[in-house]
Amino acid sequence: MDVDGIAGNTLTAHAATRAFYAGVASPTLGFSQDYLGPTLRFVRGRAARISVENSTDMPITAHWHGMHLPGDLDGGPQLAFGPGETWAPELPVDHPAATLWYHSHVHGQTANQVYRGLAGMILLDDPAIDVPLPQTYGEDDIPLIVQDRLFRRGVMTYDLGHMDQMAGFQGSDILVNGTLHPKVTVPAGLVRFRLLNGSNARTYEFSFSDGRRFHQIASDGGLLPTPHAVTGLHLSPGERAEIVVDFSDSRAVRLVSADIAAGMMGGGSMGGMMGGGSGPSGTLDILSIEVSGQALVTPDALPARLPAQLRDLGAPVRTRDFTLNIHSRGMMGSMMNNLFGRSGQSMGINGASYDMGRIDFHVPLGETERWRINADMMAHPFHVHGASFLVTHAGGQAVDPQLTGLKDVVHVDGPTEILVRFDKPATAEAPFMYHCHILEHEDRGMMGQFTVG
Ligand code: C2O
Ligand code: CU
Ligand code: CU
Repeated sequence: MDVDGIAGNTLTAHAATRAFYAGVASPTLGFSQDYLGPTLRFVRGRAARISVENSTDMPITAHWHGMHLPGDLDGGPQLAFGPGETWAPELPVDHPAATLWYHSHVHGQTANQVYRGLAGMILLDDPAIDVPLPQTYGEDDIPLIVQDRLFRRGVMTYDLGHMDQMAGFQGSDILVNGTLHPKVTVPAGLVRFRLLNGSNARTYEFSFSDGRRFHQIASDGGLLPTPHAVTGLHLSPGERAEIVVDFSDSRAVRLVSADIAAGMMGGGSMGGMMGGGSGPSGTLDILSIEVSGQALVTPDALPARLPAQLRDLGAPVRTRDFTLNIHSRGMMGSMMNNLFGRSGQSMGINGASYDMGRIDFHVPLGETERWRINADMMAHPFHVHGASFLVTHAGGQAVDPQLTGLKDVVHVDGPTEILVRFDKPATAEAPFMYHCHILEHEDRGMMGQFTVG
């Protein structure tokens, strides 16, 4: 079938420029655009045929983050293709309706390539789902790719200081869908925002400037069982959430976020250990919203129950333990090395840095496992390829999966447990990744890989 969103089913990765600040060109990368790629729409049950052309001067991949695909279609580091080459997978779309994304995933280059723009959103539609949620794309169903960037004299800049290598790179300017100081006009009714934290390392705590309540209706892997009323929403790198907001009062409002210092973990942050700031230092403006025009969906239409597809994964047949290490050889030494100029691949998981030639373990197809994840020194967003999972404990506390839904990234800030079952195979030639989605950590080795079969 055709993929909505792209002409000729082709995505062309290329170098470009964009004037984020008027009159100042920044070097960028994009998929068929000067920055980021188009929103792709896939339909459950139909194969999506896509050609990805590499017109850049470096190897790239196209990873379909969150989709349930076999390893050889997943777009991980082993599937990198070089300048002038085309990768044309046919993707069987077998996933509940969800907000997913795609990005390049070349080992050691993911942070730089995503920062420059090699990423985009995927909306996966399920024709069998019929709920009265806002779904008019661009009118009351609005994708928001939120990214922080650093600009020097108006030029988008990615230069890593030692702290950035350790804590991950944070910029002070916010882009939404590639635009600085974004504004949107929405109808005076229910509006759905599909939020993707596409930042390299920044975590957001979203809210509205007037403190209004809204409903979260979906997380990474699809709809929640019921709309969840909240006033704030935490989203770490790689995570998505769909929210529904009532604008029938017609008041203009801003979507904002706490400006969370890099490396915050529980009470004692790395910033604190390093003598830096140790708390939210202010508020970031994310999006200005104005209201005009009639509701497409009225507030009373919000259903009390949603057709969530949380599978019962049953009892786990085995347990695996993971510790995300800022340094695989002792943390104080690493901090000093990092601070005083030694860089390189020093991060890891369970004491080992990522090695493309090493398979870390094998998972039997279709068996539920419990994974226990712990973090070193700072909070890390832990991501798994090839399946969605259920979070059962976070920060040592029991979590109700009804509130969090199907996930593929979990913010690890203290002992965390997930239940996961892989139903797609992955071979040693194209294994699945598990990694920290702080892209500077991933590139420096906080990643491993496994086979399924
Ligand atoms: Cu969003 Cu392994 O990636
Ligand atoms: Cu992924
Ligand atoms: Cu990390």
